[in-house]
Amino acid sequence: MVKLITAIADLRQTLAGARAAGKSIGFVPTMGCLHEGHQSLIRQASLENDLAVVSIFVNPLQFGPEEDYATYPRDLDRDCQLAVAAGAGIVFAPAAAEMYPQAALAYAAVELLGDGLCGKSRPGHFRGVCTVVSKLLHIVQPERAYFGEKDAQQLAIIRRLVLDLNMPVLIVAVPIQREPDGLAMSSRNRYLAADERKRAVVLYRALQEAQRVFAAGERESRMLKERMAAMITAVPGAAIDYIEIAEPQTLQPLENIQDTALLALAVRFGKTRLIDNCLLTEGK
Ligand code: PAJ
Repeated sequence: MVKLITAIADLRQTLAGARAAGKSIGFVPTMGCLHEGHQSLIRQASLENDLAVVSIFVNPLQFGPEEDYATYPRDLDRDCQLAVAAGAGIVFAPAAAEMYPQAALAYAAVELLGDGLCGKSRPGHFRGVCTVVSKLLHIVQPERAYFGEKDAQQLAIIRRLVLDLNMPVLIVAVPIQREPDGLAMSSRNRYLAADERKRAVVLYRALQEAQRVFAAGERESRMLKERMAAMITAVPGAAIDYIEIAEPQTLQPLENIQDTALLALAVRFGKTRLIDNCLLTEGK
């Protein structure tokens, strides 16, 4: 049975006991509204560690004033069931006042990597992510922490955070889980109206098209991006936030692709902003 813990002190005590018993700890931070994407992270964490800890916390610090913090879907009972089904031993679900008892004066941030891609339209977002992930890593102190490739910029930033600040944790990347039609699973997919949901598959189709053109020899980013933009703008209701080709670790934009590149995009359907990405790799 999963253990639901809401107080930081309780979690620290429980985990100290597990550690003293020689158990390795794998950690999966989430904002809840769990789906098969989150479950794949939890499954891997429970396979690779003696104890899988899942946090469910909608982090106010990473939402902009116009964003969906208030309306972000919350269903703790359902989340606990899905977390247990995937192998979680502990669910940590603190209230906002437990994580931020007073307005924070200290933050964690990674410079440069958060400026482009999603950072452009979400100022302050990655500082909020880095801060909460740092807090959670300090609280849980896991051997391994699991992040989805779905959020490629977040993953690159967390890797750099942990590297630059010598945090004693191994960051494990987990592949993107998709719906049968290819749409990347996301808690925000439920915001889509039925017609938008059908059209949203264009993100995946555009990535596939770019991969096809890349495999055929195209190495100029502009050509690939234009091809994708044409596909997406042809879909009613789809508004491109960005299409970017960048170096996977530094996230610096690439004009020409030499070896491996991250191809990432964000598209809005009404108020719903969807992201997806893939790697463009020589020989693939
Ligand atoms: P959330 O959006 O709930 O995602 C939690 C984790 O699940 C992230 O590492 C994300 O990349 C991964 N994930 C989401 N959808 C996925 C999919 N379709 N396939 C594979 N992995 C997927 O990301 C956050 O929460 C927050 O920013 C957080 C890191 C918890 C900090 O608040």
